[in-house]
Amino acid sequence: MEVIIQETAEKATGVAARIVAALLREKPDAVLGLATGNTPTALYEQLVRLHRDEGLGFEAASSFNLDEFVGVPEAHRASYHHYMRRHLFDHVDVRDENVHLLDGNAEDIPGECDRYEEDIRDVGGIDLQILGIGPEGHIGFNEPTSSLGSRTRIKTLTRRTRRDLAGAFDEQDDVPKHVLTMGIQTILETRTCLLLAFGVRKARAVAAMIEGPVSASVPASGLQLHEDARVILDEAAASELERKSYYREVYEAKPSWQR
Ligand code: F6R
Repeated sequence: MEVIIQETAEKATGVAARIVAALLREKPDAVLGLATGNTPTALYEQLVRLHRDEGLGFEAASSFNLDEFVGVPEAHRASYHHYMRRHLFDHVDVRDENVHLLDGNAEDIPGECDRYEEDIRDVGGIDLQILGIGPEGHIGFNEPTSSLGSRTRIKTLTRRTRRDLAGAFDEQDDVPKHVLTMGIQTILETRTCLLLAFGVRKARAVAAMIEGPVSASVPASGLQLHEDARVILDEAAASELERKSYYREVYEAKPSWQR
């Protein structure tokens, strides 16, 4: 796992934006795995700016989102369909037919999840998966004790996650109990994982993911098994790491062509 620590969330986001932009320039038909939530909003803002000001193209690219609520209409302000349009899709030249999101209102939920896995396979897999992390160590909505071998499926959110998500809904009780999410194994099959974490609220989960044992109790720790997992942190999210100075030395000693 490569651990990149930056002074601020803004700088960390800048590093992530450069990685995504470099991929799109090198491979315009790249397949992007996308996350929602607070963490990547500034990244999407930067990608929109690069599209507008520097001609970064999304026309040939495809995308797959990590997750979606069950039973929330697509047009609802809390749905991830809505989030993605608002933060990215409405502002870049990505084609509707290349955008993939799970349908949390599908009648046949297992069929919907299987279809999603098939669609990912059909495009040749995901090149770069953007991830956030929950304070209890989830990636996607693979909550603690999710199988490290899991694939796209329905999951039940923990109370803590439902509390964290309450801001997007009118009432706490409106937060759905269920979501559809890519599984850990689905995520591990992507070619590169780029996980972003900012703020002290994430520090414990980040330390457990990077330095703890690989365990279903901290689903993000499964990324230790990934060949190309990059974790980009601000100082606060890195604050509980024991080997912080080593990660810094590794990053600083990297030749510029490798950055
Ligand atoms: C969202 C997702 C979640 C979030 C995580 C962090 O698509 O898959 O794993 O990345 O809950 O959320 P924020 O960024 O809001 O702290």
